[in-house]
Amino acid sequence: MIMHIVGNRPQFIKLAPLYRALELAGYQQNIIHSGQHYDENMSDIFFEELGIPSPCVNLEAGGGSHAQMTAKAMTGLEEQLLKSKPELVILYGDTNTTLAGAVVASKLCIPIAHVEAGPRTRDKRNPEECNRIVTDHLSDILFCPDSESLANLQGEGLGEKAYMTGDIMYDTYLSISGRMEKDDMPEETEEIILMTWHRQENTSDKKRMACVLDLVERLESKVVCPLHPRTRKCLAQFGLLERAQSIPNLEMIDPVGYVEMVKLMNRARLILTDSGGVSKESSFAGAKCLFMLNLEVWKDLLREGWIHQVNPENAESVEAAAAFAKKAVHVAPAQRPRYYGDGHAAEKMVQELRRRNLI
Ligand code: UD1
Ligand code: UDP
Repeated sequence: MIMHIVGNRPQFIKLAPLYRALELAGYQQNIIHSGQHYDENMSDIFFEELGIPSPCVNLEAGGGSHAQMTAKAMTGLEEQLLKSKPELVILYGDTNTTLAGAVVASKLCIPIAHVEAGPRTRDKRNPEECNRIVTDHLSDILFCPDSESLANLQGEGLGEKAYMTGDIMYDTYLSISGRMEKDDMPEETEEIILMTWHRQENTSDKKRMACVLDLVERLESKVVCPLHPRTRKCLAQFGLLERAQSIPNLEMIDPVGYVEMVKLMNRARLILTDSGGVSKESSFAGAKCLFMLNLEVWKDLLREGWIHQVNPENAESVEAAAAFAKKAVHVAPAQRPRYYGDGHAAEKMVQELRRRNLI
């Protein structure tokens, strides 16, 4: 039996196509949910919309500090993996759930496949970087979303375990976009700037949060922001929620499911974000990206100027970002960058797992 370990919103999105591909190939599978994300619109909605079966258990490890959450997830995972004895564990991305899964499975000598292996920011102050490094080095097969990730792994001596599949999030994006076209869903046509905002680096400091709000106001055009619960809590805690609600061009909404998210991305002429996933998806949807972290993610997109970095605390950087935003227009499919495969990453993963006798 193959065990998927997930717990965060982006992991559900990555899990859906691989679960389906393994199911079509006839494999028995189960899902453990760490409970890191627990609100209905951060978790259940993705299982429903993407047709993922219910997890066999939820470890309810959400909330608390990094160590508290990781420790709780590890304790629960050890118990579950000892009971279920899977032949392979599949981990996704770079969250505390991924880290917990890597440490526990490797100590139980269960082979690990890591989906979205190899991205590096080369900054260990970034919590996700620590999770990625540990997980990649403990895994037995490393599925890379792009050639930059493959080169990073080769540089760390992990080339033999690495295999380039393209990005599995592209599989999900294409499937949902295609479903919407088939259903002929009427789309709103008004162009927007879409915003997502949740990373620790942008939410743990009052001054930084205030500067992000100033940046939004400076952009002038309509900004729609499905607000991560962490960000809402931090805005409230720093006394900034009213200020955010009073910005005339900012519409804050609750987090949305993936179908609604794809609709918003497809409507956007620009995406303002600090999300690793969303900054890459911007290239699928044809919206250029203002990235609010001083981290070099998705270097191909940075190099070609699709992603433009902005430091909300620096006046010059904000001016340059405003100019970038002003020029940004929705880009037609034929002109979009193509660094992330062909939308068949999940099938390639199944083939490679078989070839290496891991399933
Ligand atoms: C986590 C990941 C991050 C990923 C993100 C995806 C780590 C270190 N971080 O960040 O890499 O980009 O998930 O969204 O693993 N909360 C709720 N309801 C929820 C989920 C969270 O209220 O359903 C609140 C809680 O107050 C929680 C806080 O958000 O303490 C932060 O959640 P957490 O999972 O620690 O971090 P994310 O910012 O979601
Ligand atoms: N997403 C979503 N609804 C939202 C915000 C994001 O479905 O309200 C999707 C987004 O399109 C992407 C994934 O969630 O596929 C990214 O998750 P997030 O930004 O939370 O995490 P990160 O990619 O930074 O780890």
